[in-house]
Amino acid sequence: MQRDNLEVLIGADRIHERIRELAAQISNDYRGRHVCLVGILKGSWVFLADLIRSLDLEVSVSFLGVASYGKGTKPSGEVKITLDLDDSIEGKDVLVVEDILDTGETFRYLQGVLGAHQPRTLRSVVLLDKPARRTQPVHADYVGFTIPDAFVVGYGLDFAQKYRNLPDVCVLHPEQPKA
Ligand code: PRP
Repeated sequence: MQRDNLEVLIGADRIHERIRELAAQISNDYRGRHVCLVGILKGSWVFLADLIRSLDLEVSVSFLGVASYGKGTKPSGEVKITLDLDDSIEGKDVLVVEDILDTGETFRYLQGVLGAHQPRTLRSVVLLDKPARRTQPVHADYVGFTIPDAFVVGYGLDFAQKYRNLPDVCVLHPEQPKA
């Protein structure tokens, strides 16, 4: 696989160590309760798959497909649903699982969409938080890593659907124009 323009930002071992810490905190906070995890596709599924196996809780899992309009390294700020929930979250303790919180446009949208289903509680866990680019006044309840303003791929995150399978979170450096 070509990895010429990729630089490891957070290695796989550190990711898994941090996920175990997050899972311990979440398991403690929700002790004795059933938690409905809502994974936001596509980017969250790798994170969700590892997180769920470290949770010492009774959980269920649903997915919500969400995509930003426009592709590339700059999101457009518009969001659309590509796959709806297959189960009711009304009255449930819902924990949204996201790969990255960037501008916050997706989170703000999700708060409205999921909040309208009247869950008992609505919290969120993100693997990566990039506060430098925030345009919306939102935050995650549980954060794996706060990262600088760089375009990251791997561990579920993509560029034009590529690189989701990388085990590390990597910075994607733009290709240099050929001379
Ligand atoms: C990514 C990511 C978040 C969103 C965060 O999704 O998974 O959902 O962007 O960005 P924001 O805070 O600026 O809204 P993307 O639209 O790239 O789709 P994907 O999950 O299918 O890769």
